[in-house]
Amino acid sequence: MKENRASVTAQRVGMKRAAHQLLDDPKVFDDPVALRIIGKESASALRVDPLQFESTPLSSYLRAFVAARSRYAEEKLALGVQRNVCQYVILGAGLDTFAYRNPHPQGLLHVFEVDHPATQAWKRARLDEARIPLPSNLTFAPVDFEAQTLEEGLRVVGYDPRKSTFFSWLGVTEYLTTEAVMATLRFIASAQKGSGIVFDYMISPSLLTPAQRTRFDALARRVASAGEPWQAFFDPEVLTRDLRAMGFEYAEGLGPEEINARYFKDRKDGLRVGSLSHLMKAQV
Ligand SMILES: C[S@@+](CC[C@H](N)C(=O)[O-])C[C@H]1O[C@@H](n2cnc3c(N)ncnc32)[C@H](O)[C@@H]1O
Repeated sequence: MKENRASVTAQRVGMKRAAHQLLDDPKVFDDPVALRIIGKESASALRVDPLQFESTPLSSYLRAFVAARSRYAEEKLALGVQRNVCQYVILGAGLDTFAYRNPHPQGLLHVFEVDHPATQAWKRARLDEARIPLPSNLTFAPVDFEAQTLEEGLRVVGYDPRKSTFFSWLGVTEYLTTEAVMATLRFIASAQKGSGIVFDYMISPSLLTPAQRTRFDALARRVASAGEPWQAFFDPEVLTRDLRAMGFEYAEGLGPEEINARYFKDRKDGLRVGSLSHLMKAQV
């Protein structure tokens, strides 16, 4: 990310979630705050023509993946809450709206939004502009993953390491260095028993077919030209092994076929995720 500038990709992803609310039926991820959080002008433009920002052949795959990964993370969070998880840490939160539509009974779950300070300040202005109230069970933690440890960033805002915690990290790891990703995962591996994480990641280009590589290159060029180049790539098998070696009791990857079978089966509109979509779930 460029120093002191809010993430451009955070706005793009917010737009995808909002477009999903207008374009896709049935919705894979229902987010009643998605249109409000992107700002009045963007929301009006989307309502007039929801397809105007969905113009490339890869647009619907990305929209599908943005919806699916949030759905998956919030499903796993809900399972965690049934088993005593009482803190939810959203890493690289961008325009994530969970905290403003939290379906869990009051007092059950404390939410921490962690993000780069510049993006977080921009989001807070967005929330203010849209008059979205800040719930009392929400805490913001400004953290630059490349410059600070997550442990320190959370400690100073009141995160309690003795409590079971669920973490989500969506659309972020690919923008960081491998060292920063691994340092954060090691911290989460040391969290209280019963804690867990869902994150997505970019697959190593060396594992791709030529056709997949063409799509990878097209997407990589787009994010690099926004000043947020992809930096970290993983081999699913090696990553699973590394997570176990860090101390996670359990780690399970979900590839594009599994994501499509789980969330996009029998759709009449053909909406589905593309072959670069990879999720990981790990449990402490
Ligand atoms: C593509 S957005 C995803 C946002 C959100 N998770 C979502 O799915 O809507 C990438 C996010 O990663 C965050 N990010 C990128 N580099 C970061 C860094 N070095 N430290 C903290 N956050 C970072 C950005 O601020 C942004 O919120």
